[in-house]
This record gives sequence, C-alpha cells and structure tokens, in this order.
Amino acid sequence: MASILDLDLSKGKYVISKHIYGHFAEHLGRCIYNGLWVGEDSPIPNTRGIRNDIVEALKEINIPNLRWPGGCFADNYHWKDGIGPREDRPYMINTDWGHVVENNHFGTHEFMDLCEQLECEPYICGNVGSGTVKEMQEWVEYLTFDGESPMANLRKKNGREKPWSLNFFGIGNENWGCGGLMKVETYVEKYRQYQTYVSNYSGNEIKKIACGPSEADYHWTEVVMRECTGQTPQLENSTHDKPIKSAWEYYRPQLWGLGLHYYVRNRLNYTSATKFNEDLWFEYMQRAVYMEELITNHSKVMDKYDPDKNVALIVDEWGSWYEPEPGTHPRFLYQQNTLRDALIAGINLNIFNNHCDRVKMANIAQLINVLQALILTEGSEMILTPTYHVFEMYKVHQDSTLIPINIETRDYQFGGGSLPIVNASASRDQQGKVHLTLCNLDPHNSEEITCRLDGDKAISSVNARILTAETMNMCNTFEQPEQIKPITFDDIKIQDNLVSFVLPGKSVLAVELEF
Ligand code: AHR
Repeated sequence: MASILDLDLSKGKYVISKHIYGHFAEHLGRCIYNGLWVGEDSPIPNTRGIRNDIVEALKEINIPNLRWPGGCFADNYHWKDGIGPREDRPYMINTDWGHVVENNHFGTHEFMDLCEQLECEPYICGNVGSGTVKEMQEWVEYLTFDGESPMANLRKKNGREKPWSLNFFGIGNENWGCGGLMKVETYVEKYRQYQTYVSNYSGNEIKKIACGPSEADYHWTEVVMRECTGQTPQLENSTHDKPIKSAWEYYRPQLWGLGLHYYVRNRLNYTSATKFNEDLWFEYMQRAVYMEELITNHSKVMDKYDPDKNVALIVDEWGSWYEPEPGTHPRFLYQQNTLRDALIAGINLNIFNNHCDRVKMANIAQLINVLQALILTEGSEMILTPTYHVFEMYKVHQDSTLIPINIETRDYQFGGGSLPIVNASASRDQQGKVHLTLCNLDPHNSEEITCRLDGDKAISSVNARILTAETMNMCNTFEQPEQIKPITFDDIKIQDNLVSFVLPGKSVLAVELEF
C-alpha cells in the first residue's frame, strides 16, 4: 500500500512564522567561548571577536532569532557584569555548567553585535531566579531607551549611541527548576510583577515571554494562562467609581508567549549520540513524535483562556540530548549529531509547522557545540551537522502559508510499538511555489508516496533534495565533514495535480512544486 498525502491548497490560512526556525546560544560549554566568540585577537577570522565562518553559515539558513544568555545561565546572569571595557569586567562562576570561570567578555554589546551581523532578532532572557526587578528594568532601558537616561547614558559611554531594537524578552527560564525551583503559583506572581517593569521605550515593542511548562506539566500552562493573560479581571479597584478603569484594566499583564521545554532524551539513561541500534532509533523517533501530543494538549489548555490564539506557544528549548562525547567535560553537553538527529529535527519542524496557528516560535538547543548543535567546531575548523542541513532544507517554510495535509500512511512497527512511517508538512511561499517536507521514520523500508493537490492549476515542474545515509548513525566528522549532506532527488513523477515518488528509508526529503 502506498501512502497518500492530500494537500488542501484552498484551506491555507495560517502563516508559518519564520521564528519557528529560531536558535539558542547559552553560556554553556563551548557554545559561546571557543564557539561563536573567539575574541578580536584570535587568528581565526572574526569580526569584532565573532567567527566569520559561523556567521556566514547561519546567514545561509536565514536564522530568524537567537535566544541568549540561557537557559539556566540566564537566572544566574547579571548583565551589568558584561558591559564596559572587557579587561575590567568581573569574573563569575558558571554554577550551572561545570563551575567554570566566566570572564564576561561576551556580554550585551557582543550579543547585539552578533545579532546585527546575523541580521536576526535578539531574544533575551532576563533573570528572575537571582535577579531583581530593578536589574531587569534597567537592562531593558539600557538596550532600548533613546534619549537621556541613566542607562541610556551608560550605554552611550560604552560605545553605543543609538538603542537597539528588542523584540523578544523572556521573564526567567525554567523557574520550576534551575530558575528558582518555584511553584507555578509563585512564578505567576513574579511574572506579573517583573513584566510590569519591562517597558516599551522609544517606540520599541517587546513581546514578553513567560517561563512555560516542562514537558507534560499541563497544570503549569493552566495557571500561567489563568493568571497572566489579562483575560479575567481579578483586581477590583474600590477607590474609584466606574467608568474609571480598575487597576487590573490599566495594568493587566501582557503575555505574548509561553515557552514549552521538551527534549528528546531518556533522563534515566542517557545514551550515546552515535553508538546505537534500532531499539534506540525507534525509541528516539517515538520521543520526537511525542511533541505532537504535547503541543496538542498544551494548546487545548491555552484555548480555554485564549480561544483567539493571541498568546503564542513557543518551544524555546527542544532537541536531542545524549550522553556527552567521551573525553569531554560532562557539563559541557558536547554531542555528535547523526542522521537520527536529522530525522528528529525534521519531525519536530513538521510538527511546529502544522501547529503554526498556536506555535509562533521555537528555539533548538543549541546553536554550536552543545546538545543538538547545527555547527561543531574544533580550533579553527568547523563542520555542519545533519541538523544544520535540515534547517537549510526547511528554510523555504519560513513565513510561508501552511497547507493542511491529510496523511494516510502505514506504520513503522518495531518491538511491539508502532509509529506512522511518514511525517510531513507543506506550505505555499509568496511566489506561489508549494513546499513539502517529509521524513521516513523507518530505517529499512522505503515508502511509495502519492501526493494529491486540490488546486486547479497543473504542476509544471518539480525539484527535490534528500538527506539520508547508508547507516542510521552516520555523522559528519572533522576528518569527513561531508558524509551527510543534501543531494538532488530526481526520481519524482508529476502528472496534472499528482506527485509520486518512493521515499527511501531513514530520509528527509524537501520537494518544491511550481505551477
Ligand atoms: O539547554 C540546556 C539546558 O536545558 C538549559 O540551560 C535549561 O534551560 C534546560 O534545562
């Protein structure tokens, strides 16, 4: 039996935000130092300390936003330590990630410079766990206030006359864990308080993002939505007669997004990134597909309070998490990246696309040398991982209109479990081209695919590229950096509004159709 994919071109109404293709760079291991940041005096070609080859590679995938400085590090970070002359900046201990000493050489100016070089939006995560309201308030003033003010003047003294534009700001990170071990009832109080002082200065408009749930913690989502969306009046102002607005109406909390964190991992038994058999291939495919259930269920809770979907679910940490590469620092979270990770990326991105009515942003963890990285470096060398290639193949979906697909497929069965063999999403770009991305989860069997498009124009041409490998665990290495990369896939038939091809096992395919 072949799999049938029905693409309903007439039903496209939601845009796949480019921010779904976002990234995350934390002060962790070799992500920032000896990763992105080599310093101005490095022999490695750089622009003001930031590696040129990395910037070039990331611009190639249209990186839309970058989350920083953490992660857990965010709730330990005091931004004033990271401004001014570098030699004068205080050192601190990175208590989350190996107790290594952080010299604060990469701070606010360096991060904003990086975003400018990448032409992407900064997404800064503020410190709720160990920081103060004043500290957060002043950071936003420092970044965005255009005029004379204590923080704006400090910024100018440090060499930046004009404010930056700052679109995304997180009010804490994982405050249920490393960010202060709070109960959700405590966190919502903090959220309401801290966000009050995150101001929109000088025409800058900030999208405020709350710490969201870990995995299936639906109670967390429920309470944040109930207490922070401003949907339900809760404060009565007895000092004024109507029609003067109540304090609640004046100050209702603003919540643009809620950040779900979910990693594809086995927390009880972290396993190797590269040495695995089909048991672990299947298990990690199952864990990747679970994102569908999480998003569906969190969205249902959000719908109760926000049926118009004004609040975004953002998955601001996702990706695979294995045991660190042998011989590396256990808290640096450096791992290799195989074809399995390409499938994990492809599946997750398809899920996010298909839920783009609610999911407006996502950030894979992490950009370089940490967890499911897009880029690995060793000294002056750099390699692109299979995950990087998936982001490159899928970039066509950025800001395109989602085309709903109905998939009739068979199951990939293994060890008593089963998963749909095909996972896919589709969109139409601004030029009218249709893009379809598919993953075949079965490592052994190819699958015949027929796509039926309901439009009235016949397909005139097709282009496709595939990412696959001989073995499940193939990866790019510094010795063989191009073992896995996308290649042209020619074996596709088109007839009127039908597209058919055989999707090889363990592959990610991107198809482009013109009419
Ligand atoms: O991405 C690594 C860590 O995972 C982040 O710092 C934290 O937010 C999460 O637990």
